[in-house]
Amino acid sequence: MKLTDLAAQVLRHQRSTPDLIAEALRQAIQHGIFTEGQSLRQDEIATQFGVSRIPVREALRQLEAEGLVSFHPNRGAMVTSLSPEAAQEICEIRLALETTALQLAIPQLTEADLDQAATILQTTEQTTDPVQWANLNWQFHAALYTPAHRPRLLSLIKMLHINVDRYIRLQIQALDYRDHSQQEHHQLLAACQQRDEKQATEILQHHIGAAAQQLVEYLQTAARPSQPLLDSPILQKVLQPGKYVKSVV
Ligand code: NI
Repeated sequence: MKLTDLAAQVLRHQRSTPDLIAEALRQAIQHGIFTEGQSLRQDEIATQFGVSRIPVREALRQLEAEGLVSFHPNRGAMVTSLSPEAAQEICEIRLALETTALQLAIPQLTEADLDQAATILQTTEQTTDPVQWANLNWQFHAALYTPAHRPRLLSLIKMLHINVDRYIRLQIQALDYRDHSQQEHHQLLAACQQRDEKQATEILQHHIGAAAQQLVEYLQTAARPSQPLLDSPILQKVLQPGKYVKSVV
């Protein structure tokens, strides 16, 4: 091993400036430092990061592709807000994509993968910070989906998680969300340990469906309190009473 090899290794893993700025802004949105509808001034962000406006613009374009930021002709970049309809659609897509990823992953899961997922759950138990909790939630799901070896599928799922995760902070504060969710994570891991694809799929469907129902209701009550709640036949199907998972809801 030579110094040049080590340098090459480090440089290969080092992320570009726009990536780093995008990550910081993503976290700022998740933490609620930037809120829905807030303008993101490129010159101010550039000054704070000590960079030119070019990498900032590139970072904002990344966040636009992820659905967190939108560009408006006169007002520039703004933090997007999630409508109840958009949240419902995202969760319907998650149901399809995440069950596919899980079903592809289960036959490939190694003991090391399962141990990693279990360790993430243990860390989650000790976490009180909602943003950290949301990150660990993603890491747990990703640990179970990654063995599917479908990188495009995984990155689509990640993008959907990022859009919904920023509301987890609010959901954790408002609802008895964390206990239910964590209970389902343990059930999901147990089904994966038994390589029981059918049971794992049903638990995951319920997990996404229950979180979706809470999120859509939360957003709808905030936006239009007097309107009847949205309904989704797909979400209702996975939340039918008498379904496999009885310990939740
Ligand atoms: Ni989860």
